Amino acid sequence: MLTGKRVLLIIGGGIAAYKSLDLIRKLRGQAASVRCILTAGGRQFVTPLSAASLSGDKVYTELFDLTDEAEMGHIQLSRDADLLVVAPATADLMAKMAHGLADDLATTALLATDKPVLIAPAMNVRMWQHAATRRNLATLRGDGVMVIGPNEGDMACGEYGPGRMAEPEEILAAITAALAPTARPLSGLRALVTSGPTHEPIDPVRYIANRSSGKQGHAIAAALAMLGAETVLVSGPVHEATPPGVAIRKVETACEMLEACKGAGRFDIAVCAAAVADWRVESQSGRKIKKRHDGGAPKLVLTENPDILLSLSQNNASRPRLVIGFAAETNDVITHAREKRTRKGCDWIVANDVSPETGIMGGDFNTVHLLTGEGLENWPPMSKTDVAARLAQRIAEHFAVG
Ligand SMILES: Cc1cc2nc3c(=O)[nH]c(=O)nc-3n(C[C@H](O)[C@H](O)[C@H](O)COP(=O)(O)O)c2cc1C
Repeated sequence: MLTGKRVLLIIGGGIAAYKSLDLIRKLRGQAASVRCILTAGGRQFVTPLSAASLSGDKVYTELFDLTDEAEMGHIQLSRDADLLVVAPATADLMAKMAHGLADDLATTALLATDKPVLIAPAMNVRMWQHAATRRNLATLRGDGVMVIGPNEGDMACGEYGPGRMAEPEEILAAITAALAPTARPLSGLRALVTSGPTHEPIDPVRYIANRSSGKQGHAIAAALAMLGAETVLVSGPVHEATPPGVAIRKVETACEMLEACKGAGRFDIAVCAAAVADWRVESQSGRKIKKRHDGGAPKLVLTENPDILLSLSQNNASRPRLVIGFAAETNDVITHAREKRTRKGCDWIVANDVSPETGIMGGDFNTVHLLTGEGLENWPPMSKTDVAARLAQRIAEHFAVG
């Protein structure tokens, strides 16, 4: 599966470092080549000799080493890999990565790389739950760093909680997913995506609508299907093509969208990206409303539409295991997103600023903030396709940890 893939494994100073030796064996068992950097902390837990014997390669430890620099510069070391894996990723390494520090070989290689990076955090539960680690984790995720684990369980320090490094086979699966484009980490899971605007009729020829194009929602459906999820896309009226491998349900109104979601079965994942109209006309006219000769305008009485995100988030047996909502705002984006996440009871919110000057509504680019139970991630501006791919990858990571 990983034949010819090159992994640069950075082993930090945590008790879980011993598990990383097993990871080296497992990677080599998949025909990947593994090169190791041991931090000074890491060397307190495992020896360079063990890592060298298992990897079958020289182990790198020092930044200022003339011989190493002559043979393999530190920049070359990080560029020469297909993927950088930090396991265990200590609180210290995560903090340095989040702040762009480069005061040893490991952190310099991590800052110098242009390759994907996967971290497997491992630390005491209080270190993991500390506000500083929360912030660093959110920053790293925002920078596109992939994260596997940690798991919950008994800790070497005698405490219980999240902080145990993911098992070597779980890290191997995350590496495989990151390196093999054909990997389908979401296979066996069902995903529901809503996309586009809704049209709320006034009469047979007029309707209330919004500027949503469906580009983001459709890209998310495509990305989830690419990762193997059996994906149903419930879409309002859009000009986007149905992505390959995705089952489409076309609807017009918010009420139809809710019915289509409910009728499509049970799901593990729900991503509500549609811009559902909040209101519809209370009594739609069966005939075209005629222009009045006295110049007066008809009064439209609006009534509230069903809340699809709220409905999917309700805590019952059919609730998807992960419900993600979108918050399209024109001001106070983060404040509104936090408030929406609490009010709707969904797990994650993808928030974006859709003020006209951003060009996001209908455009090809997006700048989003991902709000999860773990904190806020500010993603850099990118194409809607890239946002979708990254969100799908985050969903895959979420389900890999279970
Ligand atoms: C016995 C012992 C176990 C430790 N285990 C961890 C750990 O699991 N996770 C962690 O973040 N730090 C742990 N630490 C602290 C790190 O080793 C310390 O922060 C070190 O500076 C990390 O260096 P590095 O991140 O460059 O490898 C431990 C320290 C000791 C003495």
